Amino acid sequence: MKKTTKKRMKQSAVLALMATLALGVGCAPEKATPVKTVQIADGVIDPAQWGKAWPVEYDMWKKTGEPTPAGKSKYKKGNDGGVTYDKLSEFPFLALLFNGWGFGVEYNEPRGHLNMRKDQSLVDPSRIKAGGACLTCKTPYAVQLEQKMGKDYYAKPYNDVLAEIPKEHQDLGVACIDCHDNKDMSLKISRGFTLSKALKTMGVDETKLTHQDKRSLVCAQCHVTYSIPKDADMKSVDVFFPWEGSKWGQMPVENIIKKIRSDASYGEWKQSVTGFKMAFIRHPEFEMYSNNSVHWQAGVSCADCHMPYTKVGSQKASDHRVMSPLKNDMKACQQCHTETPEWLKEQVFAIQDRAVSIFIRSGYATATVAKLFEMAHKAQAEGKEINKDLYAQAKDHYEEAFYRVIFFGAENSVGFHNPTEAMRILGDAALRAGQAEALLRQGLTAAGVAVPAKIDLELPKYLNNRGERKLMFNQEQEFKDPFAAK
Ligand code: HEC
Ligand code: HEC
Ligand code: HEC
Ligand code: HEC
Repeated sequence: MKKTTKKRMKQSAVLALMATLALGVGCAPEKATPVKTVQIADGVIDPAQWGKAWPVEYDMWKKTGEPTPAGKSKYKKGNDGGVTYDKLSEFPFLALLFNGWGFGVEYNEPRGHLNMRKDQSLVDPSRIKAGGACLTCKTPYAVQLEQKMGKDYYAKPYNDVLAEIPKEHQDLGVACIDCHDNKDMSLKISRGFTLSKALKTMGVDETKLTHQDKRSLVCAQCHVTYSIPKDADMKSVDVFFPWEGSKWGQMPVENIIKKIRSDASYGEWKQSVTGFKMAFIRHPEFEMYSNNSVHWQAGVSCADCHMPYTKVGSQKASDHRVMSPLKNDMKACQQCHTETPEWLKEQVFAIQDRAVSIFIRSGYATATVAKLFEMAHKAQAEGKEINKDLYAQAKDHYEEAFYRVIFFGAENSVGFHNPTEAMRILGDAALRAGQAEALLRQGLTAAGVAVPAKIDLELPKYLNNRGERKLMFNQEQEFKDPFAAK
């Protein structure tokens, strides 16, 4: 035990030294081999054309369409050996919480970048009801389409907007042009209409961003949460990142929840169990990671862990087969860490097991509150009077718990990106759900409703026969609480 601590301390000293010496931005692995500059004409989207100049990166990029190595990741098995993993089977309480719209019908673990657009046509059609807005982080054509179509881009039916993309590129996912400037291959933010706008609301001056910042921000074009506000007819009118009131390196879940609860037009769907109109939170990787995580504070970027330098023949290149570092045997981590891959992997699992435990506990606690609201609404319909003040307080706590649970659930690292922040968020979720439950039980009891000690969640009702393909609960994929009965 002591030896390990000593070794770790030595290593952090080395890392700190490297950080100071190198860039002032954390441990800097060796750069890729400098490459020739070849001109790619302005506006060329086709990656195959870029690939003529950069065949090594192009070939790796194409590999994101292949099944990922199985048996290496514990919680992010999306596309391992070509198998699709169903998040609603992995965490059954989500099926109850999301019942009422597309995410409660079909919600799969992410797969490689090459599949992103295709996956939208494979998923249950209820998931693309929001319209063209859904293409924003799925196609390199989003930027042009938004410019050309204006409001129609957001509001028109998904398939109509998709049809505006040249046929041969309708299945194209993230492309070179999304992250690179064609002139010199430097990193570039292409989605001005979402990311640049959001950075502006936080007062970030884009011209002052460092190279290392951009190694995260190219990812933050899509790996962030966004909202799709609606008009009175529930037609989509915009896509925006709810970052107002936050600042660079500090975008806490509290600010995001405050923003999405601040206006009824941010309500995107109706939760069927409670009847409440709700907003939504999607994949907040950048927000979670940048909020004071150890690695962010050390200046480590998304690309450092997900696009490590690799040798291809005699050439050194950034691994454009973007995927979980676990599936690449922790090679990314070893650019900076001297421990063995096994040790590093155990650290990841230790963090994830703990986060998953409290996620499951707070998730079921929140689902229980949803069922108590269902009971309360039934009682009200039967003419029973529930104390308004208790009800309002319970609703507030419930929504705060709900958004925290789904913030963690949508964040794709299962806690690793920021372990302490993840535990703080889930701890609050559990507390809020507990408070909501106590208040509702009090209100129901006072109204003469006998509330059982154990609430039946009726999970099979939400888990089975989902959508057009009648999707069923797959027990093999369920994650059980790693600390159950402890
Ligand atoms: C244009 C939007 C976009 C950009 C830019 C983007 N991603 Fe993604 N990423 C996605 C989508 C969408 C998925 C899920 C695809 C699917 O499941 O079909 C995804 C999936 C992933 C996955 C899971 C891969 C797997 O094998 O399961 C990782 C890891 C990832 N992205 C990391 C990154 C990193 C790191 C960057 C920046 C270097 C980045 N992404 C840039 C949209 C994007
Ligand atoms: C210090 C290393 C590190 C950094 C920095 C990092 N990640 Fe990760 N990321 C991980 C690990 C480890 C996992 C968990 C993978 C697993 O469980 O298989 C992960 C998981 C993911 C996943 C899900 C992968 C999958 O296979 O489904 C996505 C998407 C992702 N990260 C995106 C990002 C983005 C975007 C950033 C920057 C905002 C980022 N990561 C920064 C290490 C890192
Ligand atoms: C999701 C974002 C993203 C996409 C898509 C992407 N790249 Fe990159 N690329 C990066 C990042 C990040 C780096 C590292 C750049 C740096 O640190 O200067 C990089 C580096 C490069 C480099 C410099 C050498 C190296 O390997 O580090 C080349 C050349 C390159 N990419 C070509 C391409 C080509 C060709 C495509 C399309 C087939 C592509 N990239 C798609 C993010 C991306
Ligand atoms: C670009 C450099 C870099 C990369 C890549 C990197 N790390 Fe780190 N890591 C650091 C630095 C710097 C620290 C903070 C100094 C320390 O305590 O060692 C750190 C700290 C840690 C810690 C301790 C965290 C804590 O809360 O105290 C763990 C665990 C860890 N890294 C695991 C990983 C894993 C797993 C990967 C790969 C998925 C990885 N790191 C990739 C640089 C890196």
